[in-house]
Amino acid sequence: MTRKLRVGVIGAGIAERHLTGFGWNSDLFEVPVLCSLDADRGKPLCEEHNIPEYTQDADSLFARDDLDIIDIAAPPDSHFELCRKAIESGKHVICEKPLFGSIAEVDEMARILARSNGRKLMPIFQYRYGSGLQKLKLLIERGLAGKPFLTTIETHWWRGPDYYAVPWRGKWATELGGGLLGHAIHAHDMLNYVHGPCAEVFSYGATLVNPIEVEDTAALSVKMKNGSLATLSMTLGSRKEISRLRFCFSDLVAESILEPYTMGRDPWTFIAGTEEHQARIDAALADYEETEDGYTRQFELFHKAIIDDRDPPVTLQDARNSLELVTAAYSSQRTGQPTPMPITAEHPLYRSWLPEEGRRLAAGV
Ligand SMILES: NC(=O)c1ccc[n+]([C@@H]2O[C@H](COP(=O)([O-])OP(=O)(O)OC[C@H]3O[C@@H](n4cnc5c(N)ncnc54)[C@H](O)[C@@H]3O)[C@@H](O)[C@H]2O)c1
Repeated sequence: MTRKLRVGVIGAGIAERHLTGFGWNSDLFEVPVLCSLDADRGKPLCEEHNIPEYTQDADSLFARDDLDIIDIAAPPDSHFELCRKAIESGKHVICEKPLFGSIAEVDEMARILARSNGRKLMPIFQYRYGSGLQKLKLLIERGLAGKPFLTTIETHWWRGPDYYAVPWRGKWATELGGGLLGHAIHAHDMLNYVHGPCAEVFSYGATLVNPIEVEDTAALSVKMKNGSLATLSMTLGSRKEISRLRFCFSDLVAESILEPYTMGRDPWTFIAGTEEHQARIDAALADYEETEDGYTRQFELFHKAIIDDRDPPVTLQDARNSLELVTAAYSSQRTGQPTPMPITAEHPLYRSWLPEEGRRLAAGV
C-alpha cells in the first residue's frame, strides 16, 4: 500500500492551488495543518479543504514529529529561513518560486541538505508539466528533434496598480526582483528544462509600466551551453496577455499555444522538415501517455521520489539554473556587458543581486 505523506502548508494565497493539487492526490497526501499570518484568509481555506488545524506560528510546524513535508507558499524573502528550519527539523520541503534570493543561498542549502540525512527539497516549477512541453521532451528523448538551433520565449503579461497594492510586491527587499524573477521565471525554466544550462547572457531591463522599484520589462540574448541561442522577452505591460515558446531544431520546430498561464499545455504544434520525419514524429506523439499537469503532477512525482528515495522531479540545481539566469541578466543590465555563466562565488552578485545589498557585499562592507 502507498504511504500517505502528511503535509504542513505555509501560506494562504497561491497555497490554495497547492491544496487543490494535494486534494487531487488524496491517496498520496493529507494536510493536517495550515499556517499563515492572515487568519482571514487562512481559516476559510482550512474549512474549504477540511484541514483540521490552523496556526499562525510556523515554528510550531517544525516542532511537530507527525509531518513528513513542509510546503512553503509564503513570500520570497521568507523562503530561505523557512526551508532551512524545515530541513533541519527533519522534514522534506516543497517551496514556491523564486526559491531563494541569491546563488549563495542555493549553495548554502546544498550544504544543509548534504548533512540532512536524506531530506529532499523540491522547488516549484509546475508549468513544466503541461502536455505540450512534455511531448517536446518525449521527442527529444527519442532523438527525433535533431540539433538545437534557436529558442524564442515571450512572456507578455499585464499587471496594473492593484497587483502592486500588496505591500511585498514591487520592492527589491521583499519581492527580490521584478518580472524576470517573479513572472517569466516559469517560461525561462522551460528553456533550461529543454536545453540545459545557459553559457552567457546579455540583457537590457527597464521599469516602464508601473511606479515600482524592480524591472517590469526586459530583453535577453542567451548562448546556451549546448551551443544553441535564445532570445527571451518579458513585459508586464502587454494589454493582450500571451506566453509563446518556439523551439527550432534541425529536424523539428515546436510551437506552444499563446495562453499566458497555460502555455505548456496542448495543443502545441510539432512540424518536421520532411513527410517521412513527420510520420516518425506523429507516431512518437501517438505513444504519449496523458497525465495530470501543474501542481497535481509535480506533487505526485514528489511523492514517488520520496518513497523511492530518488531525486525530486525538480531539483535544487534546476532552481540554481533559473536563478543564475536572473543573476546574469541583472549583472549584464548593470555592467552593459555580456555575463558568462555559471555564476560562482567570485561573481559580484553571487551573494545578492539586490542593487544596494549587492554593491555593499561586493565591496565587503
Ligand atoms: N508557481 C506559481 O505559479 C506562483 C503563482 C503565484 C505566486 N507564487 C509564489 O508563491 C509565493 C506566495 O505568493 P502569494 O501570491 O501566495 O503571496 P500572498 O501575499 O498572497 O500570500 C502569502 C501568504 O504567506 C503567509 N505568510 C507570509 N509569511 C509567513 C510566515 N513567516 N509564516 C507563515 N505564513 C506566512 C501570508 O500570511 C499569506 O497567507 C511567492 O513566492 C510567489 O512568487 C507562485
